[in-house]
Amino acid sequence: MNVEGIEVAQHGGKLDGEPAPPAARKVFVKTYGCQMNVYDSQRMSDALAADGYTGTDRIEDADLVLLNTCHIREKAAEKVYSELGRIRDLKAERAGRGMETLVAVAGCVAQAEGAEIIRRQSAVDLVIGPQTYHRLPQALSRARRGEKVVETEYAIEDKFEQLPSPRRAAIVGRGVTAFLTVQEGCDKFCTFCVVPYTRGSEVSRPVQQIIGEAEKLAEAGVREVTLLGQNVNAWHGEGPDGKEWGLGRLLFRLARIPGIARLRYTTSHPRDMDDELIEAHRDLAELMPYLHLPVQAGSDRILKAMNRRHKAADYVRLVERIRSVRPDMAMSGDFIVGFPGETDADFEDTMELVRTVRYAQAYSFKYSPRPGTPGAAMNDHVAEAVKDDRLQRLQALLGDQLRAFNAGMAGKTMDLLIEKPGRRPGQRVGRSPWLQPVIVDETVGEIGDIVSVRITGTGNSLFAEPV
Ligand code: 5AD
Ligand code: SF4
Repeated sequence: MNVEGIEVAQHGGKLDGEPAPPAARKVFVKTYGCQMNVYDSQRMSDALAADGYTGTDRIEDADLVLLNTCHIREKAAEKVYSELGRIRDLKAERAGRGMETLVAVAGCVAQAEGAEIIRRQSAVDLVIGPQTYHRLPQALSRARRGEKVVETEYAIEDKFEQLPSPRRAAIVGRGVTAFLTVQEGCDKFCTFCVVPYTRGSEVSRPVQQIIGEAEKLAEAGVREVTLLGQNVNAWHGEGPDGKEWGLGRLLFRLARIPGIARLRYTTSHPRDMDDELIEAHRDLAELMPYLHLPVQAGSDRILKAMNRRHKAADYVRLVERIRSVRPDMAMSGDFIVGFPGETDADFEDTMELVRTVRYAQAYSFKYSPRPGTPGAAMNDHVAEAVKDDRLQRLQALLGDQLRAFNAGMAGKTMDLLIEKPGRRPGQRVGRSPWLQPVIVDETVGEIGDIVSVRITGTGNSLFAEPV
């Protein structure tokens, strides 16, 4: 996933369409990190709506504050603790006015830190890990009775089966693009990464469950679905034909759902890009030409130390193969600079790989040791100043590539999915096949329409006119 370690704006307001009983309890949801957290927050909001909560985007009005947290890098977890400090003050202030506030911490920090969160911040009432979200209403009623609740064991029951399915009314409020988790967890154990510990081992959702959820989304007006998984291209399951399906087959099936015009998936591991998935990029018009395929580093030595289990040249060859079937494929990636033992020469290999691949978009990070991961225990940690310097150089290069990619759109004709109102009156924002926001006049089409446009401006934003 492109975990950026930044909050994704998702402040309440997600329970639209719910008939609010008078003086209903209010929940404020704040989501950090990756798209899977965004998806999880929506599913939790659905469960809370069924439990009588309505969403609010005013934290001071909230009877329940729910932080859905990210643990991928150090800063992400620290942000949660400082937010909790502010929430403690708010809780005390509301208590002074005779109002109770419950504070719940969900997500990967909850899973990794468990009861430690309550020890460090006593204002927290409930800690709930990603594998137990279906137990949220029950856990909340315990918390309301004054219990401090920690729910972090891996449940054996199927969380997705038990969560209320996404409600039509709620989806309508969410727009024409949607996330759908098809796979969760990771068995790859890259030595820098906490995900195998916080999200557990790889689990694929069953085919029928995924089709059912995609149909619901389509009925509610969703046109573009992004399949999510920490290792989404490792997804597999038994198809209705009794055969073992991979992600490629699943994409073909989902493309047949009326209303679904566009499909994407994220995040992929290079080792799981199988032939069928590459063929889907060749044969399936609904599959958008944009691929997030993290490589992390361009040096074989570092890739080995990271336990990525492929060489830099394997990755470059893979990208060439994908582009040979889909020449306009936009590549996106994740990079880590300053992994333990990374020398100047190793870093230059990363720069070289970036020059070879040419990315349309990328996320890059300084290595941050995560407790309990093998990387944290390695020798030769790289000095912070060196990491800063490498990150700056890498980001400058990636920034040049991004600008070049966008500038290359000038004069191009493309299909645009009209997504939402623009910031200025009279404008709408659409999404290009390559995931770029494109600004058009509102007369170009209604939200949810796919229209043919030509790019007329490529400054800081892309602008287009109908053709
Ligand atoms: N330090 C820095 N970046 C990390 N990532 C994952 N773990 C770490 C870490 N310990 C980055 C990787 C991954 C993305 C989601 O976050 O690039 O692909
Ligand atoms: Fe983390 Fe590696 Fe798994 Fe991605 S593939 S979630 S980086 S362990």
